[in-house]
Amino acid sequence: MRVAVVGATGAVGSTILEVMRERAFETTETVLFASQRSAGRKLAHGDSELTVQALSAESIQGFDLALFSAGSGTSEEWAPRFSEAGAVVVDNSSFWRTYDDVPLVVSEVNPEALDHHGGIVANPNCSTAQMVVALKPILDAVGIERLVISTYQSVSGTGQKAVEELRDQARAVLDGSEVPPPTVYPHQIAFNVLPQVELFKEGDDYTTEERKMMRETRKILGVEDLPISATCVRVPVYTGHSESVNVQTRQTLSPEECRELLLRAPGLQVVDAPGEGLYPTAIDAAGRDEVLVGRVRSDPSHERCLNLWIVGDNLRKGAALNAVQVAELLVARGLLRSSRVQMS
Ligand SMILES: NC(=O)c1ccc[n+]([C@@H]2O[C@H](COP(=O)([O-])OP(=O)(O)OC[C@H]3O[C@@H](n4cnc5c(N)ncnc54)[C@H](OP(=O)(O)O)[C@@H]3O)[C@@H](O)[C@H]2O)c1
Repeated sequence: MRVAVVGATGAVGSTILEVMRERAFETTETVLFASQRSAGRKLAHGDSELTVQALSAESIQGFDLALFSAGSGTSEEWAPRFSEAGAVVVDNSSFWRTYDDVPLVVSEVNPEALDHHGGIVANPNCSTAQMVVALKPILDAVGIERLVISTYQSVSGTGQKAVEELRDQARAVLDGSEVPPPTVYPHQIAFNVLPQVELFKEGDDYTTEERKMMRETRKILGVEDLPISATCVRVPVYTGHSESVNVQTRQTLSPEECRELLLRAPGLQVVDAPGEGLYPTAIDAAGRDEVLVGRVRSDPSHERCLNLWIVGDNLRKGAALNAVQVAELLVARGLLRSSRVQMS
């Protein structure tokens, strides 16, 4: 199987390569793509060193699978071209997520949505991906009536340049030197908390990230009219998004019953002994595949509401890991174009 990794030099792309190695994802050839700027750059992949290529009509031919993490513009232009050339694209950008004919998939939650893909599969927004892993068992057991979400999102969610911005600003603050002005974020991120993730579109009080969370959660959970309110906040953390989620259920669910459900669910680890200082933190989640859940407690203001604290590695379950898990499902279910041709 020939696999293209598009955006291989970026925060998500380099994690995709790491996850492919860790999970021994089988390929006959892996080809790395990035922008013109990186063409010719060498990247280590397992025992070999691969040369980064630029995208062109010629270089994209002959792939079975293409894992994209190169931003919306690149996905808009190049995902259909890879697909027309025979590959199935798993895309991390937001561009294709809302299209009706593009499945938006989290491997533990709605793998069946892959069955009717038309050549492009979308990976959700990082905050959404980790949250729905924890919500799915609750939805299946007792139904969900409403969600109120507050996120605390790390800077690697914005990409490599944002990680450098936090590092350079934090160093300057600690050294007592002049803090470099922000170029990625609208304000200084070091030692600060910003109630803005992504952009405010004209006339909208909610950011594009908040809108994505609300829309994508409904699509993945298959509850098109689910009432959701989200506030997304950027915090000076390198990796790991934390989320406070208030879940209003259809039937009553005690915290103990909820913990039991979460303990049995795939992709989750329950870390919930707050009296002993045990609860999920971003540092604990970074580098881990599981989404961590804790602080499971009833909401004193409503008998059918629970509060959860959900933390995940945004580069892993929020992007690279889920993309590779989706790729594994496509292979296992014979859903690549090449396997369909062989079968027919
Ligand atoms: N970071 C996360 O936690 C996360 C989670 C979910 C989804 N995503 C999405 O994943 C995508 C990548 O995010 P990231 O955080 O990895 O960003 P990043 O660190 O800035 O990396 C961007 C990658 O895209 C490549 N690229 C840029 N313009 C290109 C072009 N015209 N043609 C080909 N390649 C191009 C870059 O190559 P060069 O090195 O050559 O510039 C780099 O490899 C975004 O759409 C983002 O929204 C990110």
